[in-house]
Amino acid sequence: MSAEPKDTQEPGVGPGARDAASPGERVVIFDTTMRDGEQSPGCSMNLEEKLQVADVLEEMGVDVIEAGFPIASKGDFEAVSEIAKRVKNSTVAGLARATPKDIDRAGAAVKFAARPRIHTFISTSPLHMKHKLQMAPEAVHQAVHDSVTRARNLCDDVEWSPEDGTRTEHDFLCRTVETAIKSGAGTVNIPDTVGYTVPEEFHALIAMLMNRVPNIDKAIISVHCHNDLGLAVANSLAAVSAGARQVECTVNGIGERAGNAAMEEIVMALRTRRDTLPFVTGINTEMITRASRLVSAITGFNVQPNKAIVGANAFAHESGIHQDGMLKHSGTYEIMTPESVGLNQSTLVMGKHSGRHAFKSKLEELGFRLSDNELNDAFVRFKDLADHKKDVYDEDLIALVDDAVLRHNDRIRFVSLQVVCGSKGPQTAELELEVDGERRTAKADGNGPVDATFEAVTAIVPHEAVLKLYQVHAVTGGTDAQAEVTVRLEEAGKSVNGQGADYDTLVASARAYVNALNKLLVKREKSAPAAISA
Ligand code: KIV
Ligand code: ZN
Repeated sequence: MSAEPKDTQEPGVGPGARDAASPGERVVIFDTTMRDGEQSPGCSMNLEEKLQVADVLEEMGVDVIEAGFPIASKGDFEAVSEIAKRVKNSTVAGLARATPKDIDRAGAAVKFAARPRIHTFISTSPLHMKHKLQMAPEAVHQAVHDSVTRARNLCDDVEWSPEDGTRTEHDFLCRTVETAIKSGAGTVNIPDTVGYTVPEEFHALIAMLMNRVPNIDKAIISVHCHNDLGLAVANSLAAVSAGARQVECTVNGIGERAGNAAMEEIVMALRTRRDTLPFVTGINTEMITRASRLVSAITGFNVQPNKAIVGANAFAHESGIHQDGMLKHSGTYEIMTPESVGLNQSTLVMGKHSGRHAFKSKLEELGFRLSDNELNDAFVRFKDLADHKKDVYDEDLIALVDDAVLRHNDRIRFVSLQVVCGSKGPQTAELELEVDGERRTAKADGNGPVDATFEAVTAIVPHEAVLKLYQVHAVTGGTDAQAEVTVRLEEAGKSVNGQGADYDTLVASARAYVNALNKLLVKREKSAPAAISA
């Protein structure tokens, strides 16, 4: 390996930096993982999970955290207001439709934030106005004025979005943007709600607004791109080149349908291609991997292996030619270092003789700060793992802690599982769970050990939910690797993802199923109003 350092610049300055003395203009990173991201099927997060995500987002330097849609449910309101009270450095935003009730609820949810923001929106495209809102353009225009004015009376920082902005007539878009700014919006966000635009067109749209809206200099232009054509990141970057200075995005690109622009891709593109995109963000890129893993563990959405920046293969070099090039000079096939996104070589961390103190320090090094109770739970799981697995790697600890700590408020908890399986049949599972503090057991048969295990769960916690996805992946290499299982359950049109990790695949399966059921319980408590789609 070449001794020559490839990426010596300070964070935010990539190898392509053209001039260290002029670092470029600042682009505001607005994260909507907990609002638009959470709206995607199966991605719901409970309060505790949202607080963990908020902590990581704040620590990594996200400028604005959109914490939820306060009118959507009691749970959403509580999450936004708890995040607002907790976060000190980032702005905390709550989303609201253009109605007094929505806006007042969002205002109440963010009011204790150090930096509160109300984000209000209304559709402006002919299609949405006619069919979704059933409102005439004049009424929509009036609603822009009224909603932004009302929000501005509650909060100094107001963002306004014309939903389906990229399919809105230009004259009407300019008029509504001007009115929103006049009414007090400090940020105007142009959403490509259905992921329809292409980079050149979006660049021209932002340039058109910059040229035609007379008071545009009084607001920051933001963009919010969906990924239906796989262009969300490219469109966002094109908009930045045209003058946008806020980008809305999500960790791992989660979001409605094909998702939103991926934060890690936007940030690393800006960092790596400073020569052509002379902009900086406030993100500590070394926290990207941690944020990605946390969001994946909480939502149960595994990141595809070839996903840019955070996929398992993003920095892997398999072919002989590439490996040879890498040995001669790592810049031959790597445009950014794994370290710059917080991906360090898998290190052997500890074994069964490692003590609590070493365990705690290692977790801190990995970015976990656990309470005493959480640490105790995680340490018990670690000891058990170390008894069964010779080498314990960073990845093992991350999977274990995500599993042990993220679940500790669950109403249903895994206790033990005994399975009889193999070709002679029948396959049976004997399971013990704790439900609201009470131990319950069940024995069930099934078509295979997984089926028997899930039947046993259903015998203890009867439910109508349908299994939609069962997926296993190995956390590390080796036959003693921990299995990470994802289970998706659907009930009454709502889906949830559960995850579980263990060195025993069946135990991981039971944990994942139980985790999904816990999420379903939370989801049942949430009663979303009709037609919330943003
Ligand atoms: O996609 C969209 O239009 C939205 C808005 C609420 C910004 O999510
Ligand atoms: Zn959206």
